[in-house]
Amino acid sequence: MCGIIGYAGSREPVGVVSEALSRLEYRGYDSSGVAFFDKKGSISVVRASGKLSRLVEALQGATGLPGAAIGHIRWATHGAPTEENAHPHRSGPIVLVHNGIIENERALRRELIGEGCVFSSETDTEVLAHRIHRAYREEGDLQAAVRKGLSGVEGSYALAVMCEESPGQLVAVRKGAPLILGEAEGEFFAASDIPAFLKWTRRVMPLPPEVLAILSPEGLSLCRLEDGQPVPAVFEEVPWDPVQAEKGHYRHFMEKEIFEGPRAIIDTLEGRLAEENSRVILPELLRLGPNPTEIVFVACGTSYHAGLLGRLMIESFSPISVRVEIASEFRYRPLRARKGAWVIGISQSGETADTLGALELARKEGYLTVGITNVGGSSITRETDATLLTRAGPEIGVASTKAFIAQVTLVWLLALYFGRRESPEVRESLAALVRSPARLEGFLGSVDSSAIERMARQVLDSRFVIFIGRGMDYPLAIEGALKLKEITYRPADGYPGGELKHGPIALVERGVLVVAPLADSSLRPKEMSNIREIEARGGTVLTIGPASPDPSDPSPSFPLPACQGWDGVFLASAVLQLLAYRAASLTGNDVDQPRNLAKSVTVE
Ligand code: F6R
Repeated sequence: MCGIIGYAGSREPVGVVSEALSRLEYRGYDSSGVAFFDKKGSISVVRASGKLSRLVEALQGATGLPGAAIGHIRWATHGAPTEENAHPHRSGPIVLVHNGIIENERALRRELIGEGCVFSSETDTEVLAHRIHRAYREEGDLQAAVRKGLSGVEGSYALAVMCEESPGQLVAVRKGAPLILGEAEGEFFAASDIPAFLKWTRRVMPLPPEVLAILSPEGLSLCRLEDGQPVPAVFEEVPWDPVQAEKGHYRHFMEKEIFEGPRAIIDTLEGRLAEENSRVILPELLRLGPNPTEIVFVACGTSYHAGLLGRLMIESFSPISVRVEIASEFRYRPLRARKGAWVIGISQSGETADTLGALELARKEGYLTVGITNVGGSSITRETDATLLTRAGPEIGVASTKAFIAQVTLVWLLALYFGRRESPEVRESLAALVRSPARLEGFLGSVDSSAIERMARQVLDSRFVIFIGRGMDYPLAIEGALKLKEITYRPADGYPGGELKHGPIALVERGVLVVAPLADSSLRPKEMSNIREIEARGGTVLTIGPASPDPSDPSPSFPLPACQGWDGVFLASAVLQLLAYRAASLTGNDVDQPRNLAKSVTVE
């Protein structure tokens, strides 16, 4: 939640920081602000509530002196999304931006008020500005002031701090929340995510927790927050292409990212198939020793749905039993997994607080942990025993699409990895996985957009949309419902087909639409009987799947090519994603930045 950017370099900084904020807009969009040195050499702070375009208007014609500048885009946690609560926050010469939550804010605020401090916002962040300002008065040095001001602060933070008395210098530090450094010729960046500065550099370094970075156009140095001991800086080049973080000819990032699904599969398979594609290799897992006795997937939202598919896939090919847990529930229960179990967190961002909390619990209980994430260097990669990267590239649309496809690719790979290599089913499934990107690409290239449009209009004309499915189609159904509600704001829910009779069928009447993905051929007859039950009660059913082997079954409303292995999961997901996308764009909603949501949920 929230995005921050810090810049130290010789360019005009207002333009750099505003552009970086536009790449971070997916993280929050309640309000935003920047701080920079103006022509008089003082720090100017400009803030605006609402979307970033309001800030851009407020900044018309503003230019800053080369040197340090900071920016923030907010997803409100403490205090309403007003201009007063927007960042940067200031206390004397200290101006800062913050992503995270200060847990002992109340106690710290009381203490500061007792000392005569006057607050001008309701945010937890302002507490940090006052504390660092007080420390600066004693220390006379920004780096020492940040270290002192943060001692005793509990919670999570990524901060970029500037001081009116040290133009050109910027201090960045993190604990819990992400912060990535970028390095280019004579300039440095510190941002919540790489796309913020990808236009200027691909040389990145995730800032380690509780390490302070001091950035200036002349150079960068790092030291430990606790004792000021130096820490070496090691930058690496990310393979991301800046164009990947642009919309290109698409209207929205979400649309572009749906069409990047095939590339996400190819890149996620890269280097993981050996011996002419007849064997899966996951060298990342070798250091964990023997295969697990049990797998517990922990995740939230769409990533949880990928875990549900993973369970079905892994249990098809190996004797390993698999549990899938919603991270926010799991983390407050006794773990009780078998000895030798692995707890695998799935997280696109690698920063979801609940998933990280669940993994921390597992580690404390002595289990091996694995992170499946799309963001190299994210917190999950540092806090687990092994990392498996999905390689979907930057996902900017808040609703996850290509990252989900990459997660499904990875859990499919895991199923094959744990399966018996000699088994004909495993071999066939591997061949289907290898063919799947080309099949998905061909499918997306020929998708009938008028049929999607018709379905989208039916969705919008319905009072309620129910998604149903059994087997593999159940995770697809709840993912389809999630996608639809998060971007259209229309009531929708997903159920296992067999559960309908136990309650939800009471919702069915004329005017209620049911969407049924039919990618799992093994349960088709059962799914068809659920569909007949709905139609008998006046509901309209839209089916998405290949033609049924039973000629007496009606043709699917949206036909898919015959599925190979589990690739129907990719094809049906693409249709469900396009359906939600099209319906949302017809409503005129902001598809890439749906209300109340943020891309990385770094708070509980
Ligand atoms: C929905 C969506 C969210 C995320 C969830 C977990 O489209 O994107 O439900 O899947 O917030 O996020 P990550 O995967 O980053 O842990």
